[in-house]
Amino acid sequence: MISIKQVTKVYPNGVRALAGLNLEVKQGEFVFIVGPSGAGKSTLMKLLYRAEVPTSGQVTISGVDIGKLGRRNLPKLRQRIGVVFQDYKLLNERSIYENVAFALKIIGTSKTEMHHRVRSSLDLVGLRDFADALPTELSGGQQQRVCLARAIVNTPPLLIADEPTGNLDPETSWEIMRLLTKINLHGTTVVVATHNKLVVDNMRRRVLTIDGGKLVQDQARGVYSVGVN
Ligand SMILES: Nc1ncnc2c1ncn2[C@@H]1O[C@H](COP(=O)(O)OP(=O)(O)O)[C@@H](O)[C@H]1O
Ligand SMILES: [Mg+2]
Repeated sequence: MISIKQVTKVYPNGVRALAGLNLEVKQGEFVFIVGPSGAGKSTLMKLLYRAEVPTSGQVTISGVDIGKLGRRNLPKLRQRIGVVFQDYKLLNERSIYENVAFALKIIGTSKTEMHHRVRSSLDLVGLRDFADALPTELSGGQQQRVCLARAIVNTPPLLIADEPTGNLDPETSWEIMRLLTKINLHGTTVVVATHNKLVVDNMRRRVLTIDGGKLVQDQARGVYSVGVN
């Protein structure tokens, strides 16, 4: 589903964030991306949803070289990729319902369909009763659950989460991980960049370690490597 071939990313300021990165992720996998701060994890995530383009090399998702996508095809790509951030990025003056419905509204989904999808997404993350609340009335963990609902409302084949538990306490982090696992069990490929050693070590999923913009380790049922933090 994801194929990264010889990808290098040099930012305009000259920083080489990724240096000849190669990796493959199969459909339906659950993958952790770990590595020290500055390793290039977020840059990799940004390349996956085309917030950045590679300086050289190829990022292919479901057979499409997304570095080559024209502007007109970007909305279509983004509908197929759910994204979750550390800092939620919710619209604070809009209700939970509207936050989750936003992406559907843009593509002109009918009201009935939208209602159905928003309800089932909120159900999945256990926030059915919070549709009318504002993000600021929710705890951090609840806000991140709204982000998960927002990310899956289009039933994307791929979900990307960059440090989704970065602002959460351990118990709430587990809740988010449990939901990501549930989403994965529904068939969505899940890629999670994280610093959370406790989570990674307990989940025993595939762990890709990045350092200096390169893949340095690929473990099938891995742990957060000793010496990498
Ligand atoms: N927009 C940017 N412009 C310039 N340099 C950047 C930008 N984003 C990230 N970097 C640099 O690229 C390197 C990798 O960053 P990042 O991908 O955020 O790593 P990580 O998420 O693993 O901490 C770092 O040296 C960082 O300072
Ligand atoms: Mg990062």
